[in-house]
Amino acid sequence: MNKKTIGIIVGSLRRDSFSKKVAQYVADLLEEQFVVTFVDISDLALFNQDMESDPPQEWLRLRQEVKAADAVLFVTPEYNRSMPAVLKNALDVGSRPYTDNAWNGKPAAAIGVSPGSIGAFGAVNHLHQSAACVGLLMMSQPEAYLGAIMAALGDTGVEGEKVQGILQRFVDAFAAWVNRLAS
Ligand code: FNR
Repeated sequence: MNKKTIGIIVGSLRRDSFSKKVAQYVADLLEEQFVVTFVDISDLALFNQDMESDPPQEWLRLRQEVKAADAVLFVTPEYNRSMPAVLKNALDVGSRPYTDNAWNGKPAAAIGVSPGSIGAFGAVNHLHQSAACVGLLMMSQPEAYLGAIMAALGDTGVEGEKVQGILQRFVDAFAAWVNRLAS
């Protein structure tokens, strides 16, 4: 049987992003069961409805990559108690044209990452709100808000055993979620 595919979208463009390190760790765990790809959102022009008549290639690529994935995993930091604009932009780009929304019906989940104490709860909370609007089937439990993330990161990625345990339980639940819901 062909392996299902999971597209990971990271809400940070920063070169040394903590979220990217967490996403890579989670990707390695998921690769035991799934084909994992990273969906690039760094080159997407800001959504402008006027451009829909002749959409940029990057928008078409994002839509195609999202459609090709059986499920989507977001790993995101928090900006000003919400998701970073690049991530919201990607959600908007993927959601159009209205009759061909790339997100619709895909199982998905989100992990919040922050050097602060609240673990990007605000970002994930807002992400869930928009995700419901675009028809993503978001896993609600377990939740993963990884605060004080710098303490768990080392030269090889996620090294803290507590965070490793949280992520392993999250991945196990997400794998079951995807296997139950992906068509
Ligand atoms: C932040 N940061 C931040 N952190 C947080 O926990 N809650 C917040 O609301 C914010 N707000 C915020 C706004 C802006 C514009 C920036 C640039 C940063 C700090 C943020 O968590 C930190 O920069 C992380 O390192 C960003 O994640 P990556 O890039 O390491 O994945």
